[in-house]
Amino acid sequence: MLRAPPKTPDGSPSALVTFFTTSLTRLCPRARVRTAGRKRHARLNHDNGSDEESIITTAASLAFAEDLHPEDDHLTAARAHGEQLDAVPVSPGAGSALTFLAAAVHAKAVAEIGTGAGVSGLYLLRGMAADGVLTSVDLEAEHQRLAREAFVAAGFPPQRYRLITGSALDVLPRLIDHGYDLVLIDGDKVEYGEYFDEALRLIRPGGMIVFDNALWHDRVADPSQRDPQTTAIRELIARVQADETLRSVVIPLGDGLLAVQVGA
Ligand SMILES: C[S@@+](CC[C@H](N)C(=O)[O-])C[C@H]1O[C@@H](n2cnc3c(N)ncnc32)[C@H](O)[C@@H]1O
Repeated sequence: MLRAPPKTPDGSPSALVTFFTTSLTRLCPRARVRTAGRKRHARLNHDNGSDEESIITTAASLAFAEDLHPEDDHLTAARAHGEQLDAVPVSPGAGSALTFLAAAVHAKAVAEIGTGAGVSGLYLLRGMAADGVLTSVDLEAEHQRLAREAFVAAGFPPQRYRLITGSALDVLPRLIDHGYDLVLIDGDKVEYGEYFDEALRLIRPGGMIVFDNALWHDRVADPSQRDPQTTAIRELIARVQADETLRSVVIPLGDGLLAVQVGA
């Protein structure tokens, strides 16, 4: 079931949005599923008083962006394993953004916290240089066994990835200073601030630190949500915003990516 479409500033349903939502869910059945659970509005107020304009991003538009990136058999299999293990994978849209970012920074060395069953790893490897190496850390050996299986099946030779089993806060201090072009963080949300401290040491100038779950199931934007995970992510975003040496953007694909570029 679709929720009621967003309303225009005067409270009436937007005919255009209704038309678009209906048409999209006909063209793209997965959009129907997603629109049931997720709806976000972003308003841009211009400073011309009564002449307010609104930019409204509907769940249907977000689903459209997600569905631009259908996954192949390797990603589909890895995603199924991740979901079985409750190591929730990045969404197809967020994964495609990771491929894009890895390619944009010409990544030869990527560090990842939270291997899971290898979905994000596959997306990263596909954007990295042909001889690039992914170093991925996870607490769970079984998750990494399945990730390795996914990388082998997708044709990546063993020299392209290094899987380290352990707690991120134990392993990260052993990784080399400024040795990484991109760091992806998708581990324990409560530890995001501490991971960021480590990532700032690991990343090379101009490199990119990316956090998954920056919107954390729509909770970060809702000030009434004060659980430890939501609070940690909100504090991280505030810290990044306050630091003038960093460039950052929140990309609202999947559960949200926070991408931070460090001192180019
Ligand atoms: C959301 S899943 C990662 C999904 C993966 N990035 C993907 O897209 O397929 C989170 C992973 O972080 C791992 N994890 C949780 N806490 C951790 C910690 N403190 N150190 C290292 N890994 C951790 C979990 O075992 C789990 O596999």
